[in-house]
Amino acid sequence: MLEPVMMRPDVGARRFVEKVAVITGAAGGIGGACALRFAQEGANVACLDIEAAGNEAIAAQCRGLGVDAIALPCDVRVAEQVDAAFAQVAARWGGVDIVVAAAGIYTGSPLEEVSAAQWADTLQTNLTGAFYTNRAAAPYLRRRKGGSIVNISSMAGKTSWPATAEYSASKSGLIGLTRSVAMELAPYGVTVNAICPGNTLTAMVRQVAAIVGGREGLSPEEWLAMRAQDCPLGRIAQPWEIAGVAAFLASDDARYLTGQAIEVDGGMVMA
Ligand SMILES: NC(=O)c1ccc[n+]([C@@H]2O[C@H](COP(=O)([O-])OP(=O)(O)OC[C@H]3O[C@@H](n4cnc5c(N)ncnc54)[C@H](O)[C@@H]3O)[C@@H](O)[C@H]2O)c1
Repeated sequence: MLEPVMMRPDVGARRFVEKVAVITGAAGGIGGACALRFAQEGANVACLDIEAAGNEAIAAQCRGLGVDAIALPCDVRVAEQVDAAFAQVAARWGGVDIVVAAAGIYTGSPLEEVSAAQWADTLQTNLTGAFYTNRAAAPYLRRRKGGSIVNISSMAGKTSWPATAEYSASKSGLIGLTRSVAMELAPYGVTVNAICPGNTLTAMVRQVAAIVGGREGLSPEEWLAMRAQDCPLGRIAQPWEIAGVAAFLASDDARYLTGQAIEVDGGMVMA
């Protein structure tokens, strides 16, 4: 079985020293890899997640990289919890520079089996949760007159498959949210972009492999091998490869790049 690689070992850059990064979904594969990447490059990191043990483990790994890092329990579906987490971050470090909204869920049922509760929870987590995160971040970023938001959408936000209605809808919505927030924050020098990852080796993709593969009579391993074969680059992404692009988007090299939804999918979706 493939193992996720969360951290690129040879990162030499230190682009975020004294910056403050807030990552939602930090206990997960892509959010965790983003937390570690920003820590590797010198940022202090706030890890927000509902999964306490995994979140604390990532924050501890960040501290091991020589920065300050905290794990904050936060359910992105609840506005008050998101607002409170940002207030705590600002009180500790004096502001916020970088925000990655990575918290997300996947359920994936055929249309006629998607319950109202399943639809509502997916939209509430993936889209409304990102909205609460962007809204809470905005005043801090405006005050900084700079900084970046990176929303983790999906290739499912630009294209789709059967039995993906609620997930695709949430991820397409997130691209729309990204564009509007980018327009609003542009006068303050704040960039706002979305990343649309392809299949990336995390707990979520294993869950997708079990659900979708199971429906197609394939084991999760067989399903993942087929997805790797479909991909022009011939493999599933590692979490650090998504984090590397998030770091680029937050860096000085990307100050003129805003309002975009960038596929990081090995060439799966080509516009
Ligand atoms: N893995 C992929 O193939 C893939 C592809 C495209 C997009 N994405 C997106 O990337 C993001 C990260 O996914 P991942 O693959 O790392 O999955 P993951 O399951 O490893 O991580 C998701 C994290 O989000 C957290 N989370 C879920 N609901 C939350 C809530 N209400 N409040 C706070 N935290 C919550 C989970 O506890 C988990 O730690 C998601 O938005 C996902 O939709 C993943």
